[in-house]
This record gives sequence, C-alpha cells and structure tokens, in this order.
Amino acid sequence: MSKQVVYITGTSSGFGRDLVHQLADRGHKVIATARSLSKIEDLAKLENVKTQQLDVTDTVDNLKKKVDEAITFFGKIDILVNNAGHGLIGCFEESSELEIKQQFDTNFFGTVNLTQIFLKYFRSTKTQSIISTVTSMGGSVAFPTLGAYVSTKFALEGFYEALDQEVKVSQLPIKVLILAPGAFKTNIVANNKKAERVIDDYQPIKDKMEQFFKSVESDGGSSAIGAKLMADAMLGEGFAKGKEVPLRLPIASDAVNITLDKFKKETEVYEAWRPFASESDAK
Ligand SMILES: NC(=O)c1ccc[n+]([C@@H]2O[C@H](COP(=O)([O-])OP(=O)(O)OC[C@H]3O[C@@H](n4cnc5c(N)ncnc54)[C@H](OP(=O)(O)O)[C@@H]3O)[C@@H](O)[C@H]2O)c1
Repeated sequence: MSKQVVYITGTSSGFGRDLVHQLADRGHKVIATARSLSKIEDLAKLENVKTQQLDVTDTVDNLKKKVDEAITFFGKIDILVNNAGHGLIGCFEESSELEIKQQFDTNFFGTVNLTQIFLKYFRSTKTQSIISTVTSMGGSVAFPTLGAYVSTKFALEGFYEALDQEVKVSQLPIKVLILAPGAFKTNIVANNKKAERVIDDYQPIKDKMEQFFKSVESDGGSSAIGAKLMADAMLGEGFAKGKEVPLRLPIASDAVNITLDKFKKETEVYEAWRPFASESDAK
C-alpha cells in the first residue's frame, strides 16, 4: 500500500502507542495525539511521527481546529483511528448519571465528533481513506460491572454499522473499520475509573470481575501484537493481504470465542422462539 498518513487518538500507552510504532516502522506517517504531550515526548522524536495535544472530550470547534492543524503536518490525512478510551467499573445501580455521561463523553462522543469532522474532510478529498474505531469484544457482549463501558462500545458499533452502509450506498471512497479486541495487557485496568457509590449486595460479582481484571494484567495479550494486527487490517498486509477486510474485526481468540458463543446461543433462542415472534406477522 502507498504511504499513508494516520491520525491516532490516545497514544500515551497501550494500543495507541504500539500502533504509532507499527505504522511508523512500516514507513507510514503518523500524527500521534494525547491529552498530555509530556507522555508522548519519545514518540515526537521518531521519524515519520508528529505529535499533537488532543483531548477527545474537547468541543467540536476545538477538535475541528486540531484536525485542520494536523492536516497541515504532512499535507493530508488518510486514516483516522479512534482509539482513546477508558473503563468505568460499577454496577448499573451504582453508576451515577455524571459517571455514565463522562464514559460516553470520552468513548462515544469523542469518537462520534472526530468521525463527523473526518467524514466531511474525506468527502472533500475524494481519495481512498479509512475511518476506524477501537471498540471491544464488549461491543457485542456485555460484562457485569462494565455496563456503562460496554454500552459506549455497543453504541459505537451501531453507529459505525450504519455509517458503513451509508458510505457504501453513497459510493464514498471510505472504508469503515471496527477493531474489537479481547483482553490485552495495557494501562486499561490501571486507568479504569470506579463508580463512587458502593452497594454491598453487588460485592460478589465485583470480586469476580476483580479477578478477571487481575488476569488481564497478568495474562492478557500483547498490545504490540494486537497493534500489529490492527495495522495489518488497515493496510491490507499480513493475513489481510489480498482479502476484503470486513466491517468488524475481532482481535484475539477470546474476542472470537466469547462473541461467537453469545451469537450461537442467541441464534438458538431466536430459532426456538420464531413461532412466538411470527404470531404477529401480517396474515
Ligand atoms: N486493553 C484491553 O484489554 C482492551 C480491550 C478491548 C478494547 N480496548 C480499547 O482499546 C482502546 C485503547 O485502550 P488501551 O487498552 O490501550 O488502554 P490504555 O493503555 O489505558 O490507553 C488508553 C488511551 O486513551 C487515552 N485517553 C483516555 N481518555 C482520553 C481523552 N479524553 N482524550 C484523549 N485520550 C484519552 C489515554 O490517555 P491518558 O494517558 O491521557 O489517560 C490512553 O492513551 C480503548 O478504546 C479501549 O476501550 C482495550
């Protein structure tokens, strides 16, 4: 693939940081963004990389100014990677309206606002481009104590699925890509926010999930390998070479297994209950 210019959010750690290295090492140009430039000073020294301060919860006007500035760094942008995100640990009843809104501000509205800005830009350039988002296996399957987090990812997947159909029908040269990782060792667990309200009845499920988070930190996949697969999917390299990359791509076997398990069970339930549903069909 010809050399691409890639704009990535949340590059201070984890997938974002590893993706910067993956793409820059392959000779592509990267605009690495982070809330705090001091966390990405090392990335600014890499060949092919420019850095920019960006908090995805900023106003749309400010995000637009940042994107306009970023376009001038290398004269264009070809690929947007909406990667920035964090978790909120708390059961439904424990999570406050403010905590849930803050989850959506970062994971959902940050991505939605940047996507809208880039859609307008890509429509004007009319060149082949990619709009991608890092969701999660939690974009299709819910996990207890992570209801608000998975809701942001479910919501994003719905919006991106619709976007994919819209750009295809409109014949815009934009590829829409959902990257849905399983459990990987990054700073995600350390960066998780916790709901302030605690209801003791939920402690057993919270203890169970705490064990899961510990296992992610000790046995989760390598984010460098996860980022390699993300780069392969975007650039049509590695396993993706010569293949049509689907809208939604699981990254790691747990993402495949857990998601397929849910879909298989739901398929069985839907088939079993088809007679019930069809009672309402027009005769
Ligand atoms: N690791 C996993 O197991 C896993 C699984 C499924 C999906 N994901 C998704 O992968 C993406 C990357 O997460 P990660 O696992 O690499 O975790 P991470 O190491 O915690 O990285 C998250 C990045 O998002 C940034 N960020 C948070 N809020 C931001 C904001 N308002 N504006 C800009 N940047 C912000 C963080 O920057 P700061 O340093 O400023 O906080 C950090 O650079 C997330 O969307 C996450 O939901 C991760």
